[in-house]
Amino acid sequence: MNNDKLVAIIMGSDSDLAVMQDAAKILEDLGIGFHLTVVSAHRTPKRMYDFAEHAAGQGFKVIIAGAGGAAHLPGMVASITSLPVIGVPIQSKSLSGLDSLLSIVQMPAGVPVATMAINGAKNAGLLAAQIIATGEPTLVKRITDYKAALQAEVEEKATRLEKMGFEKYLSS
Ligand code: RP5
Repeated sequence: MNNDKLVAIIMGSDSDLAVMQDAAKILEDLGIGFHLTVVSAHRTPKRMYDFAEHAAGQGFKVIIAGAGGAAHLPGMVASITSLPVIGVPIQSKSLSGLDSLLSIVQMPAGVPVATMAINGAKNAGLLAAQIIATGEPTLVKRITDYKAALQAEVEEKATRLEKMGFEKYLSS
């Protein structure tokens, strides 16, 4: 598999980057190439349209789009491209991200956006990897190993908690 930039990570503002970097990091960990940039549905509508129109032709397989507030970027991009779009609602200052979540999740039938939790950029990266992994055994193994590591981590914590008791655990 050619891992060169299979995922496009776009966001409405550079102020979203602190959250959206989590998508980039997990893709890096899994060895999947990505292109990361700012595209605003409201401030750069032509750039958004051009990006969405040409995304598939540029070789991207999945688009991750993060936006906050009146978060129209994921839905508008999904309306233009046939690629799967994963939306990340960014936590907003005024309404704590509920505005972003509802703007992204309530898509009309026919134009799906896979909506993550508020600030759920890490899961967006993982879901993009899982979409790309279909029929790619090497990548499936990397994702399986990642999940096995998560499981081992929780089991180790449970063992420690049971041994130490909650007070010692909390102060350790
Ligand atoms: C949205 O407006 C962006 O996605 C961002 O979450 C929010 C605020 O943008 P800035 O004013 O910080 O650039 O379009």
